[in-house]
Amino acid sequence: MGARGRVVVVGSLNVDSTSYVEEFPGPGETVLSHGFRVALGGKGSNQAVAAQVAGAAVEFVARIGSDAAGDFAIATLERFGLPTSAIVRGADAPTGVAQITVADSGENTIIVTGGANLELTAVVVEAERDRFAAADLVLTQGELPVPAIDRAAAIARDTGVGFVLNLAPPAAVSRDTLSTADPLVVNEHEARAVGIGSDAANPSLEEWRELAASAVGAVSRSVVVTLGATGAVAASVDGSWAVNPPRVTAVDTTGAGDAFTGTLAAFLAEGRSLEEALRIAVAAGALAVQARGTVDSYATREAVLHAAGVADTTTATAEGGE
Ligand code: RIB
Repeated sequence: MGARGRVVVVGSLNVDSTSYVEEFPGPGETVLSHGFRVALGGKGSNQAVAAQVAGAAVEFVARIGSDAAGDFAIATLERFGLPTSAIVRGADAPTGVAQITVADSGENTIIVTGGANLELTAVVVEAERDRFAAADLVLTQGELPVPAIDRAAAIARDTGVGFVLNLAPPAAVSRDTLSTADPLVVNEHEARAVGIGSDAANPSLEEWRELAASAVGAVSRSVVVTLGATGAVAASVDGSWAVNPPRVTAVDTTGAGDAFTGTLAAFLAEGRSLEEALRIAVAAGALAVQARGTVDSYATREAVLHAAGVADTTTATAEGGE
């Protein structure tokens, strides 16, 4: 049996206020919601929980405020068994917030106000060098200040640790950062923002597989493109793959991309191939759309492996000893 992976997530943490509506309001329009929910969010936080639920030993480096939202966030992370010692609570800025609208179609719109996330600077990341060096993989996202993302990539490069970059939302990171990403994880809009795309209005899954393959080496070491209900593709120097998701009913797609990315990182960190990690991550993303919210909709490692049709090959600790 192999060992579970060690993942350091450097990322954002928000508290999500979500309104559920029949249809999105247009500009100047007021609509009544048929539901409201406050829950833990932030792409970093969601991905840290997803990686933890997927079996990795996760450390989460984040900045939050000394406010009630911060208390709520810490309590929620502890409920998932996630260590919170690398989360620093500042006195000045409030915990990040996201205003989310989910339509009955399952689609969402999200507005993020960074707050304390913006205090996660390159200097803060530099202080985490030893933590990075002890990990199998470092994972970050586009919701942090660009210099912090660039520093994370540089340290991962220096220390020879794997670096997974989810460029969501698109951010003007350096070429070096992009080329270090292994893989770069993007949806189709984010892919186009870094020059991966074609003139076709709606490329097929197979066309996306070819587009990802052509970006290997040119944009990043390896590439993953998520395509919602269509599935996802991945490419590296070893090949390229396309995976259709299991058929599910979408209730709320919020955080499904984070379930995908956190799960992908967890399985890469335990030494699975990109092809296999992709298959497992697609199942995790699909299962996560079946219930409302982000982290509370993430399926267990067992359920995800079952849905992906993949066997478990590890013991339950990062060291693999117990
Ligand atoms: O990916 C979903 C997340 O995006 C939400 O939880 C919200 O906080 C924003 O960061």
